[in-house]
Amino acid sequence: MLFSSKNKNRLVGIDIGTTTAKMVELSKSSRAVKVEHYACEPLAPGLIIEQQIKDIEQVGATIKRLMARSGSKNKRAAVCVASSNVISKTITVQSNMGEDELEAMVEVEADRVVPYALDDVNIDFASLGSADQSTDEEQLQLVVTRKNVIEGIVAVLEEAELEPAAVDVDHFALARVNDFVGQGRVGGGNARTTALMDFGYNTSRLIVFHNNQIVYTRENPYGGRQLIDSISQKYGLPPQDASHALRANELASSFKGEVLKPFVKTLMQEILRTLQFFYSSSTHNRIDQLLVTGGCTQIGNIDKFIEKRIEVPTAVLNPFAAIKLGSKVDKDMFRKDIPSLGVAAGLALRAIDS
Ligand SMILES: Nc1ncnc2c1ncn2[C@@H]1O[C@H](COP(=O)(O)OP(=O)(O)OP(=O)(O)O)[C@@H](O)[C@H]1O
Ligand SMILES: [Mg+2]
Repeated sequence: MLFSSKNKNRLVGIDIGTTTAKMVELSKSSRAVKVEHYACEPLAPGLIIEQQIKDIEQVGATIKRLMARSGSKNKRAAVCVASSNVISKTITVQSNMGEDELEAMVEVEADRVVPYALDDVNIDFASLGSADQSTDEEQLQLVVTRKNVIEGIVAVLEEAELEPAAVDVDHFALARVNDFVGQGRVGGGNARTTALMDFGYNTSRLIVFHNNQIVYTRENPYGGRQLIDSISQKYGLPPQDASHALRANELASSFKGEVLKPFVKTLMQEILRTLQFFYSSSTHNRIDQLLVTGGCTQIGNIDKFIEKRIEVPTAVLNPFAAIKLGSKVDKDMFRKDIPSLGVAAGLALRAIDS
């Protein structure tokens, strides 16, 4: 979104999270969409803090390992910036505006919403189609981010010997997956209010869609960190070892009852609270379906627990339900990692979206 090159046919989606980098590469033939490659690679603590890249060289080296692990030779990467690093706004314009006039208008609108000099920011916009009840007006999604954020992520890719093919925003990547998995569903998401939550390490993110358009987003400072901290305290492990033991299923038998259960309980409270915020600040008073993604949704049956607690049909987002797995993908590992791959899948889908 913030920029993209024309040849979209071959690219890898790379999601640089706080704790783990993930990549997905998809291909599309006349017969099917296929996962060609995928990988996850842990990021050392301190390299990404509050969604900011703190060490370009080390993050670049991690992405290099991620690509080597995946087996992909593709050099064109689609990446994303966190929505907390972006100011976005929907504006309505006349659809017959000339290019210069449109760019001038976008600059004026951007100047209104950003607290920085325009020289310090990247501005991008995309059409959202016609505005309601009018045929000669069009809605534009305006996206503004600080130049140093984009420069940081581009420098990481260069360090990893990759070429930046597209820089997106995490919410838009998730919205793309939401659209993709909604295709083929009866009613195709129309006149429905659905939500998607991403439970990362530091942050959980809620996106609410109505008629397939994003109508609400919210970020909360709650995520898998609380689980890792509890494991660290209970078993006297440094956070990196705690993360490793969790992933490798190597924790003592007391883990489920004494650590995981209380974490899931507070996670439920966070979800309820987040949804309450949404209901109280919008005209909506219910959602029809919740999809969840992010590392925390690897917890077995988490969707069933959530569904029971919030009384809304809930499922773990599976971007790959209608996608074939290529021969180079380790199927068991992949199945286990699906809950973590939402954002990377949304970025990879840029290659096959027509
Ligand atoms: N098997 C598992 N069971 C439970 N929780 C898990 C499991 N694997 C990972 N997690 C949790 O998921 C967290 C990582 O999630 P994820 O990879 O989505 O975060 P991230 O993308 O690195 O962070 P962010 O999106 O906040 O930048 C881990 O810190 C851990 O708490
Ligand atoms: Mg993440």
